Amino acid sequence: MTRLARVPSFAETAEQALSDPLTLHRRLARWNRRRLAVQIPSADWERDLREEHEMRRLEGRYIEAFRAEVADRAAAAPADEDGFIAWFEELKASGPGQGDPLFPWLAQEATLEDLRWFLTQEAAGEAGFDDLVAMAQVKMPTTAKLELARNYWDEMGRGAEGGMHGPMLERTARGLHLSPTIEGTAWQSLALANTMTAFSTTRRYAYHAVGALGVVELTAPGRVAQVSAGLKRCGVEPKLRKYFELHAVLDVKHSEDWNREVLRPLVRDHPESVRPLAEGALMRLTCGARCFEAYRAHLWAGPARARA
Ligand SMILES: [Fe+2]
Ligand SMILES: [Fe+2]
Repeated sequence: MTRLARVPSFAETAEQALSDPLTLHRRLARWNRRRLAVQIPSADWERDLREEHEMRRLEGRYIEAFRAEVADRAAAAPADEDGFIAWFEELKASGPGQGDPLFPWLAQEATLEDLRWFLTQEAAGEAGFDDLVAMAQVKMPTTAKLELARNYWDEMGRGAEGGMHGPMLERTARGLHLSPTIEGTAWQSLALANTMTAFSTTRRYAYHAVGALGVVELTAPGRVAQVSAGLKRCGVEPKLRKYFELHAVLDVKHSEDWNREVLRPLVRDHPESVRPLAEGALMRLTCGARCFEAYRAHLWAGPARARA
């Protein structure tokens, strides 16, 4: 008599996945791809719901463990409006991953192949900034919601397809012949996308999403300017650099507006938002820092690239 192999329980596979970041983040990334896609009704919807339950539990276990990692630093965020904004803005200088040596190297030394590899890794996420903002703004207080709407409208090219940020980045990816896949992406990069998706799709992490998206606006300009400089040095044509040149300038304004119109009123009127806003910002920066380290390990590997 043949014995059927016992199917491992969710708890067992979750435990395994949580101890192996590559398995965990590939699983979450594949699920995010499926669940965020536009779909039609299916006879299997109840089975899908069971999977949804299991995957959301796995996602929640991952996020809660990650929250614990940043808890001490997040607890230091001041609860008063001015103090919080000063703490938040200081992350630009001293937050995780800030001033990473990867970026001056991309600007000054990387080959076009290196830049293509880097951009392929960065293209991993399912949801773009536009969708993340749209999902995060649900039921937000009015002043914050209005700024999220203005930010979203900029993402939409203010109604002109040619100015939409998502398609602009896709044009870069197509023009440079990038073909990102989940399997070909470092787990650190999948983790970044999975974390942002978890924040924006889960209402208990709504303030985490706002902190994380705000810290992207705060810290992106310096990085994208260096990516753009590297692409220009390697002879990449202006239309394929447009996404990076635009964000090097526009996100400076987005960040000022976000801090004034979103963070200030939330901290002032919703004291319970302080801790999650701080955690979200720190978690997003930590994800970035892990990516930069992994990218350097790959790009700087080998004797030809030995760093002094
Ligand atoms: Fe954008
Ligand atoms: Fe922006």
